[in-house]
Amino acid sequence: MTTISTLGSHCALQVLKGAKDEGFQTLLVCEKRREKLYRRFPFIDELVLVDSFNEILNQNLNEKLGEKESIIIPHGTLLSQMSPPEIESIQTPIFGNKWILRWESDRKMKEKLMIEAGLNVPRSLASPSDINGLAIAKRHGAAGGKGYFLTTSKKDYEKKRDALTTLGIIKGDDDLYLQEYAFGVSAYLQYFYSAIQDDLEFFGVDRRYESDIDGLGRIPARQQMDVEKIPSFNVIGNSPLVLRESLLDEVYSMGERFVEAAKRLVPPGMNGPFCLEGVYNENGEFTTFEFSARIVAGTNLYVGGSPYSPFMYDEPMSMGRRIAREIKSAIAQGRLSSVVT
Ligand SMILES: Nc1ncnc2c1ncn2[C@@H]1O[C@H](COP(=O)(O)OP(=O)(O)O)[C@@H](O)[C@H]1O
Ligand SMILES: [Mg+2]
Repeated sequence: MTTISTLGSHCALQVLKGAKDEGFQTLLVCEKRREKLYRRFPFIDELVLVDSFNEILNQNLNEKLGEKESIIIPHGTLLSQMSPPEIESIQTPIFGNKWILRWESDRKMKEKLMIEAGLNVPRSLASPSDINGLAIAKRHGAAGGKGYFLTTSKKDYEKKRDALTTLGIIKGDDDLYLQEYAFGVSAYLQYFYSAIQDDLEFFGVDRRYESDIDGLGRIPARQQMDVEKIPSFNVIGNSPLVLRESLLDEVYSMGERFVEAAKRLVPPGMNGPFCLEGVYNENGEFTTFEFSARIVAGTNLYVGGSPYSPFMYDEPMSMGRRIAREIKSAIAQGRLSSVVT
């Protein structure tokens, strides 16, 4: 009996509820401090309590997951807590393509894959001396927006870099990637690519609600300048969005190009859920500033289905459930190795 497992954070509830709805056993690797929260949910069959998620790299836990024929569903917490080599060393099968997670974590590799997909990507700046106009400095990995900042000059960049270094949030220039700021309204496009059906599904869109940046509109510009704190882009939650229908054709094309590019550069490709993150300008043109190569927490909005899922499914279909269904179909067809790495 296959067990679907994940780490207790991010979108664990959605993933395990979806797995239960599809008839799987479910297992949560749970930090002791979160036990009380996750015990509340009866669709979680088993909690494996750990002091830290890194214990998933230990032989004992690996064996335990092995006995249960477990499949791990990766999400943002796996990426933020473990390095790509650590993730790649996990013995338990991981849903999707674990090799592509390295491409998500490294901003330079990430840029290469987006360009290969023919996406419109903001220019990256090789050095702070190249700053000319509004730019954003971002950390590598899924840092969740903490320690990111906007800047318009080398001098201002250095001041903010030094402040963040003193606070211990970054170590220095090597931790930062500079990208031109993309103007427009943000949209985070959620997709699922089925390796079993060779088909791309568009599931929904979310917007991120990021502190401090999304709160700045409440402070008049004059007072903003008096505040010393560097506003961060730390995600607090997500809100839903539907797109103008005329934008959908290009949404599918971008997703398809991304899937094709990933097949070429990172076999077996972009299997499972992913997200293209960016902004629409006033002409409805999308600029992609980054991607996530696994389920994003913005899909938590649509546990009961999204504004798009009824066009594909006559039952409530969350991203978590879609993942479980893919695993179920793969098992039924004897093709599990096509959906895990
Ligand atoms: N080039 C850009 N132009 C405008 N806003 C950006 C740009 N890059 C990032 N952002 C903002 O910063 C946030 C975090 O950046 P992102 O690249 O998504 O990193 P993370 O991997 O931490 O999610 C985004 O959600 C968005 O609000
Ligand atoms: Mg992001």
